[in-house]
Amino acid sequence: MKDLYTLPKAELHLHIEGTLEPELALELAAKNGVELPHGSVEELRRQYDFEDLSSFLDLYYATMSVLREAADFEALTAAYLRRAAAQGLRHVDVFFDPQAHVSRGVPVEAVITGIRTALDAARAELGITSTLVMCFLRDRPAAEALALLESLGDQLGRIDGIGLDSAEVGHPPALFAEVYDRARAAGLHVVAHAGEEAGPDYVREALDVLRVERVDHGIQCLQDPALVERLVAERVPLTVCPFSNVRLRVVGELADHPVLRMLELGLFVSVNSDDPAYFGGYVGDNFQGLRDALGLTDEQAETLARNSVDASFATEERKRALR
Ligand code: ADE
Ligand code: ZN
Repeated sequence: MKDLYTLPKAELHLHIEGTLEPELALELAAKNGVELPHGSVEELRRQYDFEDLSSFLDLYYATMSVLREAADFEALTAAYLRRAAAQGLRHVDVFFDPQAHVSRGVPVEAVITGIRTALDAARAELGITSTLVMCFLRDRPAAEALALLESLGDQLGRIDGIGLDSAEVGHPPALFAEVYDRARAAGLHVVAHAGEEAGPDYVREALDVLRVERVDHGIQCLQDPALVERLVAERVPLTVCPFSNVRLRVVGELADHPVLRMLELGLFVSVNSDDPAYFGGYVGDNFQGLRDALGLTDEQAETLARNSVDASFATEERKRALR
């Protein structure tokens, strides 16, 4: 059987703030004089029993308040990339949530500089290529997202795409139509979370109104056979996150996860870790979990790995090298 940890792969759905392990969170809290509601590694980890997406997001935003300056974002990203290399990752499209930092007084330049410094170093040191995708928080006003995008100035050239995340239900994709129009006009890649907790309509809206290139999660498409047929026909990539879906109670347990069924239906799925520090593992761990719970075969693992490369924002030359 193949070693799923060395199988070369790409990660397309990874929130860099979701890689903040308790040890680093406490170290940065002490350095920056930030008080966390949970003062030890054990106490922090005990909070990782989530009811749903919203209960996770509360802890996620509270914990990331320890990130204050560029060096903190660099340390966070460098730590993720070292783990990513050990999980077989060769390329990653990294998400970050600027509004969660700017709203605390951290300049967006500091966030981007910190993350980019570590991404650039990993290219030479670890052989991992990357792109950077700026996500907007859908539970904040679209006008705020638009204002942030328009205020980026020189920083615009340092990001490769935009995404849409945070609390999904009640915040449909179409609210962000103008933001996506501007981003596409600026030549940025466009993706959005849709069909994680909300239904197939959100997936359809992300495709029709935001004209996304990939759908993040998307698993609720299974409620709608006509949508599945369309996603197969249009070969729309779905960045599926098995451990996340179980931890956020979108799916009962890993043995019930539909990702392999989706693959058999002809959907263009990849396996990703979402917020690995909170959900019990990184991308290789997700692959291994699928083998243990669902009997993932070597052939299925190779297809998922190949899909991750094909659906990534790596250059065509890089994709060829990784196939
Ligand atoms: N932000 C970080 N992780 C997320 C997820 N799984 N869904 C929506 N927003 C997120
Ligand atoms: Zn996500």
